[in-house]
Formats: sequence, C-alpha cells, structure tokens
Amino acid sequence: MFENHTIDIGVLEQRAYNLRWATVPAGVIPLTAADPDFPCAPEITEAITRYVQDRYLCYGPPEGLPIFKETVATFFQDKRQVKAHPAYTFPVDSAAFGIYTICKAFLQPGDEAIIFDPVDFLFRYAIETVGAVAVPFAIPAGSGFVDFEALSVLITPKTKLICLCNPLNPTGKVFTKEELQQLGAIACRYNLTIMSDEIWSDIVFSPHVYTSIASLDEAIRERTIIVTGYSKSYGLAGLRIGAIVAPNEAMYARVFQASLHQSTIHGANVLGQVAASTALQSCDYWLHAFVAHLQQMRDLCVSSLNATKGIECIAPQGCYVAFANITQTGKTSTEIHELLLNKAKVAIVPGLKQWFGEGAEGHIRLCFATSEQILTQALVQTKNVLNS
Ligand SMILES: Cc1ncc(COP(=O)(O)O)c(C=O)c1O
Repeated sequence: MFENHTIDIGVLEQRAYNLRWATVPAGVIPLTAADPDFPCAPEITEAITRYVQDRYLCYGPPEGLPIFKETVATFFQDKRQVKAHPAYTFPVDSAAFGIYTICKAFLQPGDEAIIFDPVDFLFRYAIETVGAVAVPFAIPAGSGFVDFEALSVLITPKTKLICLCNPLNPTGKVFTKEELQQLGAIACRYNLTIMSDEIWSDIVFSPHVYTSIASLDEAIRERTIIVTGYSKSYGLAGLRIGAIVAPNEAMYARVFQASLHQSTIHGANVLGQVAASTALQSCDYWLHAFVAHLQQMRDLCVSSLNATKGIECIAPQGCYVAFANITQTGKTSTEIHELLLNKAKVAIVPGLKQWFGEGAEGHIRLCFATSEQILTQALVQTKNVLNS
C-alpha cells in the first residue's frame, strides 16, 4: 500500500497544492506541507462514489450527519477513552476552521491565550484573527519532561484559553499523562478552557502512547474542547473535514453558534462527512499500515539527517515531520531553504516565525509521508549539497 508504485506524481503535480507538488518547480521534491503522497484508502473513494451515484447532493443537517456525529463520538469513547456524546460533536470544514471557531467562541478582543512555541502557525493566526493575544510557552525540540508549573507565570487575569497541540507539530513531541495532568490542573486552578488539537493523535510511534487530556478526569474533561481532523491520518486534506467535540451542552452551544453553521453561512460538506465516517469505521487496517511505514521513514529520515554536515535531528515521537536543528551549518533557515531548493532540488519548510513561532529559528521541517524511494532521493540530494 505504501510502496513507490502507489504514488502517482503526475496526479500530484496537478492536485497537490499548499507548497507541494503542484506549486514547486519541475524536478523539485516537496517535503513541505504535512500531507501524504499516497492515495487514500479505497473504502473511502467507494463510499463517496456510492453517495454521489444517487445524484442527490442535498443540504445536510447544520449540526452534521447523524452517522458522522455517532462515528466520531464512538471513536473518542472507544479509542481515546473520552466521554464524548454525539449531540455535542459536530463536523467542521477542516481542523483549521475548528481552531478558529473555538477561538471565536472562547476569546474576546484583548483576551490572552497560551500557545506552545514552536507550534503550527494556525494557533497564533486564529487567536489574532479574533483580536486576542497569543502568549508563547517555550517547549524546545527535544524537551524531556515539560514542567507545566512554569506556565503559571504566563497566566494573567486576561488569560482565557490554553491551546494544547498533542502530538506537537513541528517537534513531534507526544505529551505524557503526567505532563497532561499538570496542564489540566493549571487549567482547573485558573479556570481556563483547554483547546485540545488532536489531529495528529493517530500518528504516534512506539513505544510512545497517546493520551487525550479529556480522558484524565471529569474536571479536566468539562473544560476541554477537542478539535481534530482527517487530513493527516487518512490523506483527506482536500475534503476539508474535521470535528469539534464539546464536553457539555453549554460549551457545545457556544462553539456551534460561533461556527455559523446554523445560518448555513458555514458548514461541513456531506462528502467530507461520508469520507471521514468511512475512514473511522472501515480503514483501521490502512491507518496501521500507514503508521508502520511512517515509523520506518522516520528512522530513515532521522539517521540520514544526522549524517549530514551541520544537521542534528531528534526522532519525533509522533507526527510525520522531522524538525532538524541547522545552527551548526552557520546559516539561517531561510538560507538553508534556498540552498536546498536551488541546489538539492528539495523543498522544505524553514523555521520562520510565520510558520511555527519564534522558537523555530535554527530549524527546518521536513515531511516524510512519502515512499522510501522518494524520501531517499531527497535525503541523498540534501546530504550531497550540505556535505560539499
Ligand atoms: C496541529 C495542526 N492542527 C490543524 C491542522 C490543519 O488541519 P486541516 O487540514 O484539517 O485544516 C494542521 C495541519 O498541518 C496541524 O498540524
């Protein structure tokens, strides 16, 4: 399923945007946006095809198709030990929109929200878009136990939200139960809402295990609103489908109102909901094989980068990205990006504030959700340029 011959570069060059095949110069291998090069599981396309063949593409319910709500809630109950209720679960047209909607629901202009640093740009972007202030809490790549008590000093009367990204894109950290307990205790002590972005929670490499903060205890669950999506685990980014799981009626009402779904100004399209429901119901085998392949690609990527002059890379515990330290090259991440693009014909994401926050400088991020052949070619070209 994850061999080189399953990848159709011709199709990707037509369809894979967001810094990927369709946007890079010919001959360049994009290890950029975290989006797999592999086609999705066949069950997903079969389910979409069956739905479309009836030729009825009517409005769905604003709060989501019952099958989607039930499947997502069951997933959280069975696979994440979270007391999720279908009535408080709804689809959103991407995890990105889910993050924004939660910020809109729980932040007023001038409020403060804690984000990790580095972390995906979406958190800062969403917080600032609703007029609030993002306050970074440093968790450098390779951090061992994170002492969340240190986060208390960042909390002011204006702090309303803590944004948890677990596993953490771009460093690949998977938070332990003990760390999450500390984070949850702080949220309870200061009466803060937790936004738990769990989009990467399937992509965890053994021996690390994923814990949802909402599974820890009732007091923490009651203040945690989960956002997730199906781009990463199942390669459905173009369908723009994600989900929000609220803990109770009051928080559900607040975030559902902020989504504007009731007005039909926004809403998750039915095909995305059919695809995600099918993925959760029928594609466990595909996901397990994908994660096994990714674990091999992670090891390949990390060992090759560590054998490249000036580069140090810790093995990510989760996510399919490697976050490599490039400070020993004596170059900035932008200079490395340009050098690799022009000379190695490999596109990576530079560790700029605009992508991951201030704590990302001195790093580059490479996505390894591709075939062994493509990844090896990109890493050899990278090594040849940087070693010379
Ligand atoms: C942590 C995190 N949250 C959300 C997203 C966005 O996902 P979606 O494609 O569902 O908008 C990403 C994508 O990279 C991500 O890394």
